[in-house]
Amino acid sequence: MMARKGRDFLNELTIGFAVCGSFCTHAKAIAALEQVRAHWEHVIPIVSECTADTDTRFGSAHDLMREMERICDHRVISSIQAAEPIGPQKLLDLLIICPCTGNTLGKLAAGITDTSVTMAAKAHLRNDRPLLIAPSTNDGLAASAANIGTLLTRKQVYFVPFGQDDPEKKPTSLISDFSLVVPAAQAALEGRQLQPLLLRQ
Ligand SMILES: Cc1cc2nc3c(=O)[nH]c(=O)nc-3n(C[C@H](O)[C@H](O)[C@H](O)COP(=O)(O)O)c2cc1C
Repeated sequence: MMARKGRDFLNELTIGFAVCGSFCTHAKAIAALEQVRAHWEHVIPIVSECTADTDTRFGSAHDLMREMERICDHRVISSIQAAEPIGPQKLLDLLIICPCTGNTLGKLAAGITDTSVTMAAKAHLRNDRPLLIAPSTNDGLAASAANIGTLLTRKQVYFVPFGQDDPEKKPTSLISDFSLVVPAAQAALEGRQLQPLLLRQ
């Protein structure tokens, strides 16, 4: 643990930052990525295939990936094949999934590995290193609730504190506070869950 802190001080850790298809939160995810990059020099950007392939009213996939590459000064990983070396090469000290969709939460909980992001997570976890998840999903207190519960019990899995973003109009929606990504990442690197995990209104 001391070695990790020492390396962090020297800015030698490598952080993976993976973005899933919660398109309405991509602008906030980019702000979080800027904060992560301000803290750690080596940040590898990753996007799910859905994120890489989908233009929405919130922006184009090309622009998002170009921005991530500019911030990180590193090519985006966007395929299972490109994510696989994360395991054998022990590329990452920490993997952040921000935002993490209900879809990816379900796959992680079920052990399904059919996207770049789930491949990155599987490859990284095999090295017994921390995974930090920032959920953003309308079914967080419905279909995804069981998956979040499952992941809460997993070794090396941590969460960016989350809460209900609009309890009146979207009673089952959960979203992380993306401004807490850096402190949650620091805690995860030390083997701790940032508290409180549940945000108050
Ligand atoms: C405009 C738009 C916004 C979306 N927002 C969310 C969201 O906030 N959270 C979520 O879980 N899924 C959201 N989805 C659905 C996901 O994109 C979809 O489940 C996709 O399969 C996710 O793939 P991924 O988890 O591999 O990125 C949205 C889809 C669209 C088209």
